Amino acid sequence: MSNPFYKELANEKVVFKTAFSSNIPLLLKGPTGCGKSRFVEAMAYEVDKEVVTVSCNDETSATDLIGRHLIIGGETVWQDGPVTRAVKNGHILYLDEIAEAREDVITVLHSLSDHRRKLFVDRLGEQYDAAAGFMMIVSFNPGYQKSMKEMKPSTRQRFVSLNFNYPGEEAEAQIIEKETGLNLKDSKKLAKLATKIRSLHELGLAETVSTRLLVNAAKLIIADLPPRLACDVSIVESLSDDEKIIETLKEIVSLII
Ligand SMILES: Nc1ncnc2c1ncn2[C@@H]1O[C@H](COP(=O)(O)OP(=O)(O)O)[C@@H](O)[C@H]1O
Ligand SMILES: [Mg+2]
Repeated sequence: MSNPFYKELANEKVVFKTAFSSNIPLLLKGPTGCGKSRFVEAMAYEVDKEVVTVSCNDETSATDLIGRHLIIGGETVWQDGPVTRAVKNGHILYLDEIAEAREDVITVLHSLSDHRRKLFVDRLGEQYDAAAGFMMIVSFNPGYQKSMKEMKPSTRQRFVSLNFNYPGEEAEAQIIEKETGLNLKDSKKLAKLATKIRSLHELGLAETVSTRLLVNAAKLIIADLPPRLACDVSIVESLSDDEKIIETLKEIVSLII
């Protein structure tokens, strides 16, 4: 794999590297599409580690993560889950949207996220020490909690926390340019559009425009879709289903793009 592009926005790289070498797990918080997953990929590349990613949802259980017995050809075979694989092989374990997962998942993580660095596999009566280089990274989006899910302090306080947010206009334009090859002038327009939309709190959007949406718009523009149409279908329609709000957003697009 080639070196993933990640534009550093503050001092997150040195925090990662220090947490990694100190065996401390990392929590990335921030809205969707602001670079958390990309950061993990880029850092894993820098420390030459494989990443095992689990996207958590409200059905994600401890069994899904640790492993289960399967019946294959009449025989019962144990199959390691992603956490067990990462622990045994010393991979980086990235649990995306951890707050969505079921409570029993969090319990599993406790013994892995403190000085013990152990995984208990009750069904096998086994315990595994995390291999050298194993690191746990979790992400969560504080602004968006379906059933008001929160992480308990006893869990939170095991992690070093990095706060992610959308980049400033200049940096965001550079990211768009580098990611898509769109020229800097037009990349700046997209970044400006984002700043404008993000300032309109009165729209009451569940989530505002992310860097991911801007990158999508830029890719469509590069592929010769007319720029306003590209913004309408990749940004505006992704942000709202309310006709009034869509109309307002389209007006902003036609002013800036
Ligand atoms: N700092 C950054 N450097 C490079 N690309 C970024 C950065 N922030 C966002 N991106 C772009 O935005 C996209 C979405 O980011 P991602 O990491 O998937 O978001 P998250 O995991 O926070 O939801 C990436 O694929 C990349 O194109
Ligand atoms: Mg992600």
